[in-house]
Amino acid sequence: MNIKASQHDYTVHFEDSPDFLADLLAKPDALCVVDRNVYRLYQPRFAGVDPERLMLLDALEENKGLEAALAICERMTAIPARRNAWLVSVGGGITQDVTGFAANILYRGVHWAFVPTTLLAACDSCIGGKTSLNYKGFKNLLGTFFPPDDVYVCASFFETLTDQDFLSGLGEVVKFNALMGEPGLSGLETHLPALLLRDPETVRRYTESSLAFKKTYIEQDEFDRGVRVHLNFAHTFGHAFETVSRYAVAHGSAVALGTMAANHLSLLRGWLAAETVERIDRLILPILPAGCDPAQWELSGILAAMHKDKKQTDSRITAVLLRSGFTLEIVHDVQPEEVGRALAAVSARMASK
Ligand SMILES: NC(=O)c1ccc[n+]([C@@H]2O[C@H](COP(=O)([O-])OP(=O)(O)OC[C@H]3O[C@@H](n4cnc5c(N)ncnc54)[C@H](O)[C@@H]3O)[C@@H](O)[C@H]2O)c1
Ligand SMILES: [Zn+2]
Repeated sequence: MNIKASQHDYTVHFEDSPDFLADLLAKPDALCVVDRNVYRLYQPRFAGVDPERLMLLDALEENKGLEAALAICERMTAIPARRNAWLVSVGGGITQDVTGFAANILYRGVHWAFVPTTLLAACDSCIGGKTSLNYKGFKNLLGTFFPPDDVYVCASFFETLTDQDFLSGLGEVVKFNALMGEPGLSGLETHLPALLLRDPETVRRYTESSLAFKKTYIEQDEFDRGVRVHLNFAHTFGHAFETVSRYAVAHGSAVALGTMAANHLSLLRGWLAAETVERIDRLILPILPAGCDPAQWELSGILAAMHKDKKQTDSRITAVLLRSGFTLEIVHDVQPEEVGRALAAVSARMASK
C-alpha cells in the first residue's frame, strides 16, 4: 500500500512472517530501537544485531518523552552516515512516537523504518505521520508530522499481545468499520468471532482494510485541518475516558467505549436510527475489557476532561458524530446534559448485555 505525503510517499509492506526482519535489521548504518517486551519475546530474531546498534525501549507512557527521543539521537550520532543513516524501530505506538520524533529532529530528518507490533499501531497509528511526546504531565503535548520511509505490518506479532492490548487494537478496528457503514458492519457481524480468536488471516485482512480506510482521509488532509478531523470520531469521549481512568483503560478500548457514547448522543438527537446504534453496540460489547463502564466515573470529571481535550478550540465541547446514517459531522454545541444522558444510556446497555 502506497501512502502519499508531502515530504515523501511511503510504503506499507504486508508480511506473512517475521522473516523479513533479518534483512531490515541488517541494514548498514542503522540503529535498531526495539520494545523491550518484543525483544524478549522474539529474541532469536534480534540475535545478529550488533549491540552497538541496538537500543531497547521500555514501552511506558512515562518514557514517551524528550529524554528518550534525545537518547536515541545521541546513539544515532555515532553513525557516520548522518542524514543517510536509518532508524529502524520495532514496537507499538509508544515506540513509534518516540522514534518518529527522534528521526524527525535529528539532522532535520533521517531515514526511518517502522515495524508496528501491536494491533493498534498496525491498524491505525503507523500511517498518518503523527509523532507525539508527553511533556510536563500532559499527554501528547509535543508533536510533529513525520512519515516513515517504510512500514512493515506482520500480523503474527499480535499473537503474543496481552488480551488488554489486543482488545485495544480491536477497538480502533471496530470504530473504522462502524464508519464504513453497511459493508463494514455486516462484515464485522460475520467476522468478529474470528477476530476475537485472533485468526491470523482475518486479523491481517482487517488490519489492511482499516489502513485503507484511514489512507483516504490522511491523503486528502495530511495535516489535520479538514476532513481528517472526522477521524477524531469517538476520540473526544475516548480521551476523556483515558484521563479519568488514569490510563487504566487502553486507548483503543476508550475509543470503543467512546464510539458507543457518541452514537447514543446521536440517537438522543434523532440523528441515528436506534437499530444502527444497537448493531454497533452489539459489536463493541464483546471487545470491551471487564469493568469498562462509564458509570464508575464522575460525570463532572468526564466533562472536565472533554473540555480540556486538545482538539477543543474554545470553551464549548466539540465532538464528531454520526448523522443520517454514516455521515460524519463536527459539532461544536455538545451539551453537558446530553453527555450525561448518553453515558447513562451506555451504562444501561452494558447492564443488559
Ligand atoms: N502517533 C499516532 O498517530 C498515535 C495514534 C494512536 C496512539 N498513539 C500512541 O500510542 C501509544 C499506545 O500504543 P500501543 O497501544 O500500540 O502500544 P504500546 O507501545 O503502548 O505497547 C503496549 C504494550 O504492548 C507491548 N507489546 C508491543 N508489541 C508486543 C507484542 N507483539 N507482543 C507482546 N507485547 C507487545 C509493549 O511492550 C507494551 O507493554 C500511546 O502512547 C498513544 O498515545 C499514537
Ligand atoms: Zn485512536
